[in-house]
Amino acid sequence: MKLCMIGTGYVGLVSGVCFSDLGNEVICVDKDKNKIDNLKKGIIPIYEPGLEELVLKNYKNKRLNFSSNLKDSIKKSDIVFICVGTPTKKNSNSADLTQVFSAAKEISKSINKFKIIINKSTVPVTTGDEIEKIISRKVNKKFFSVASNPEFLREGEAIRDFIYPDRVVVGSNDNKSKKILKNLYSPLISKGAKYVSTNRRAAELIKYASNAFLATKISFINEIANLCEKTNIDVEDISIGIGLDKRIGSRFLRAGPAYGGSCFPKDTKAIVSTADKFKINLSIIKSVIKSNNLRSHLLLKRLNLIMKNKIKNKTISFLGVTFKANTDDMRDSSSLKLIPYLSKKGAKIKYYDPTGSKKEFKNLKNVEFSSTIQESITGSDLVIIHTEWNDFKSINFKKFSKNKKLIIYDMRNIFSPTKIKKIGLKYFGIGR
Ligand code: UGA
Repeated sequence: MKLCMIGTGYVGLVSGVCFSDLGNEVICVDKDKNKIDNLKKGIIPIYEPGLEELVLKNYKNKRLNFSSNLKDSIKKSDIVFICVGTPTKKNSNSADLTQVFSAAKEISKSINKFKIIINKSTVPVTTGDEIEKIISRKVNKKFFSVASNPEFLREGEAIRDFIYPDRVVVGSNDNKSKKILKNLYSPLISKGAKYVSTNRRAAELIKYASNAFLATKISFINEIANLCEKTNIDVEDISIGIGLDKRIGSRFLRAGPAYGGSCFPKDTKAIVSTADKFKINLSIIKSVIKSNNLRSHLLLKRLNLIMKNKIKNKTISFLGVTFKANTDDMRDSSSLKLIPYLSKKGAKIKYYDPTGSKKEFKNLKNVEFSSTIQESITGSDLVIIHTEWNDFKSINFKKFSKNKKLIIYDMRNIFSPTKIKKIGLKYFGIGR
């Protein structure tokens, strides 16, 4: 099939490349001409393991193309995916749909034969109805169908999540597009992916409800971890003990810093805001947002305790600053709260991240990037393991054990407390 992806951000680029790899002809479109020129040269705008290889392979075999000519790309395609950003509106919690609606307007000008318009951007329920209204102002409804096909790709795991999804969700209100979309996903269905076909609004809500539920699970275990710290219990035992109950499930029960990234913080706020419009109080999700906002304060309070309130002039090494491993994404990372606080308190911060130095810390006093793990740890009073990169799991702390005052604060529980203590270093984790 001939596909057009509007937007070469995370969702559009990964989905477009993967669809081309499944045998479709795909044009990824972006109004940023520079980005398109770079993609044609094989320069990938985001850090995502495996993506570059897949882009090069499919661009070379001509199933994948890049363009900044939207009209022409839409005309050439059978299916048009809207994959643009839906950030939080300024001074509000709701999603800003400007880019989605402007894509819909552009599409309405270029429908030259029957097309399916699929919204892949994360949007509040009923947005598909709005898209349909916008297009029908210019085009007769028999020439197009609007569907919703949310993505469930995790940054850092996006290619695998696309190829081996737990499920594919497609929401459409007509049988013609339902049939075509099932056919589009048939290579994944035949490999065992579950296919969930719903009406359009249900698919939109499944996306928000999924992210809100996962955020709830994380906040739940984070709060249980707080209790574990006071009762001398290891939260890892609790995660295993409850996660083995199939009704609960073991994934997303890793206690840690506040959850971050471009999705959970934004989408939990947006679903609450949508529900408010319908006069529905999503009190659980509201509590989750509050709990997560408080999380960084709690960790800083514990950090003060660990350092016996003596942070001034201490050297603190941060290992990993992104919101999670395998990404260079800093959006809503808890390090953005922790590092500025510590710098203000007079600490000297040395941070190392496998994805390099970060502009977010450029103007902070006494914060500098270390080019190796060793450099970051050497001479520090405290090491904070902030992100769970594999590179950190193999650190041999024995090498640093001459420095008896060294304290490890393992915010991802990747080390065994007993092993670290045996070396003679002080160890603190989360919920243990
Ligand atoms: C999330 C969802 O997992 C994807 O399914 C979804 O498609 C995506 O949002 C989106 O809406 O686009 P992502 O933001 O890439 O994906 O990251 P996650 O792996 O979900 O992690 C989010 C945050 O939760 C991170 O800060 C991570 O460290 C934290 N987390 C995750 C925990 O603290 N504990 C866990 O057990 C899992």
